[in-house]
Amino acid sequence: MTKAAGFDEGARQAVYRAIRERRDVRRGFLPEPMPDDLLDRLLEAAHNAPSVGLMQPWRFIVIRDIGVRETIHKIFVDANQEALAGYAGERQQTYAGLKLEGILEAPQNLCIVCDSQSHQGHELGRRTMPETALYSAVCAVQNLWLAARAEGIGVGWVSILEPNQLRHALKIPQHITPVAYLCLGYVDAFATEPDLERAGWEKRAPLKSVLAFDRYDSNWDAERPTP
Ligand SMILES: Cc1cc2nc3c(=O)[nH]c(=O)nc-3n(C[C@H](O)[C@H](O)[C@H](O)COP(=O)(O)O)c2cc1C
Repeated sequence: MTKAAGFDEGARQAVYRAIRERRDVRRGFLPEPMPDDLLDRLLEAAHNAPSVGLMQPWRFIVIRDIGVRETIHKIFVDANQEALAGYAGERQQTYAGLKLEGILEAPQNLCIVCDSQSHQGHELGRRTMPETALYSAVCAVQNLWLAARAEGIGVGWVSILEPNQLRHALKIPQHITPVAYLCLGYVDAFATEPDLERAGWEKRAPLKSVLAFDRYDSNWDAERPTP
């Protein structure tokens, strides 16, 4: 039996490097806009994602207009104030110091939405798990995020947005789900650690703590930390 070949060593290392060095970027965006061909490559990478039944349920809304970005930023500010109010004490103080978006600094934003009702794919795989339409859209986000890192483009995901307000701002119909609001652009640097780790908000868990074989590990429930 022949075995299909993997990539050569350099290409293989590059893939793992993009995965390892991808960061969520909220600061350090440069004002220089991305050339169209670069944005096209990133969108093409997203559009190459796997999807349930080959449904390709993602839709991409590129946002450059400063007026639209200001509207979205206001939606963020309101949602972020509400989030802040949900914490207390030291946790609240730490939260207040976090930078959680780059909507105005990044010259282009991208909203990836999902049409979970699209008939493309003829419902294959969705009868049992309808949520797989959304999972497919998330795969598109990750493809774009990794390609962007390889291109030297920072990407920051902003989920602190009230979905109906976001829908209203971007004229997204009710049956469409906003999946990811992303800030994209050239950056001055990529951090080596997640921002939330550096800010003392959370630590990354080691792989072995989330790995089991043949059955669910009940210790995962016992070890659930207090929020
Ligand atoms: C679904 C999703 C939503 C996220 N929403 C936000 C957000 O609203 N604001 C933010 O600063 N980071 C957000 N992030 C980024 C995470 O905080 C980040 O991925 C995590 O801390 C790990 O850091 P890293 O991506 O640099 O490895 C989000 C990430 C994901 C996957």
